[in-house]
Amino acid sequence: MNPRKDLITIDSLSDEDIRTILESTSAMKDIFTKSVKKVPALKGKSVLTLFYEPSTRTRSSFEVAANRLSADVTTFTVSTSSVVKGESVHDTIDTLMSMKMDYIIVRHKNSGIPAVIARHCKASVINAGDGAHAHPSQAFLDAFTIKEKYGEVGGKRVVIIGDILHSRVARSTSTILRRLGAEVAYMGPGPLVPQEKHTGIPRFTNWEQVFQWKPDVIYLLRVQNERMDTPFFPRGDYHQAFGITEERLRRIDDLNLSIMHPGPVNRGVEICDAAMDYRNTLINNQVENGIAARMSILYHLTPQTQNND
Ligand code: CP
Repeated sequence: MNPRKDLITIDSLSDEDIRTILESTSAMKDIFTKSVKKVPALKGKSVLTLFYEPSTRTRSSFEVAANRLSADVTTFTVSTSSVVKGESVHDTIDTLMSMKMDYIIVRHKNSGIPAVIARHCKASVINAGDGAHAHPSQAFLDAFTIKEKYGEVGGKRVVIIGDILHSRVARSTSTILRRLGAEVAYMGPGPLVPQEKHTGIPRFTNWEQVFQWKPDVIYLLRVQNERMDTPFFPRGDYHQAFGITEERLRRIDDLNLSIMHPGPVNRGVEICDAAMDYRNTLINNQVENGIAARMSILYHLTPQTQNND
């Protein structure tokens, strides 16, 4: 893989970049089985996590990943920082860059903020989710989880169900899966599913269409109320219309389909309790693989700060 400073979107990566990061994810996961779960790959390097939006999985798994590569990790907590006194993103980054960070992992509610930061600093910047735009590390862990389950991503059919319109996960994960040769379809409430003519991705609005399409993987999304100023669809019973109910779970089981979800999950909305414990539910695998995928991403990026060594 050619030296690459930042990871902002999947679109910015070559096929070779994608293949290399995925292949190393497997090697990184092998480290988990060792009694000492740590390698010195990033010893002496500094990693900062800078999250302007809440996160459980992404932030903690990036921090675990950086620790397992022996980097020094600093968590920037926005709610107790000078951001609450009105300090801008630009000035915050300037301040933090004076501390000579090598990697900055950033999440922000506005699309484009990680790209702007990447242009202004020598550190490697990793987009940990920006608005409804992109979430590339999620895409890598999703692709890896499907590869691990089926041996190959190519040829698999994945239907992404829910609030596609506001989902950075849908955008990044559908991009990487299609680049790897999978077929992707979208299903959800009409106003939340983009038209096929704009995306090239088949668009369904009910479960019968989903089952007729014969997917291998059902990938659920949360309805992202925080990105809607006004309701986009009548809020009747979302679970009955679009969720995995116990009845649908029986059909999914008969067809031996897998279930994925990036988290956080809203039980009783997009997924019933029983589906969380279903034999082919890969949600915990996604979380575990998130650490390995993020180790691989950190390992393959090259901060410009390294030129000063
Ligand atoms: N999937 C995901 O981004 O989860 P968090 O918001 O908990 O990081």
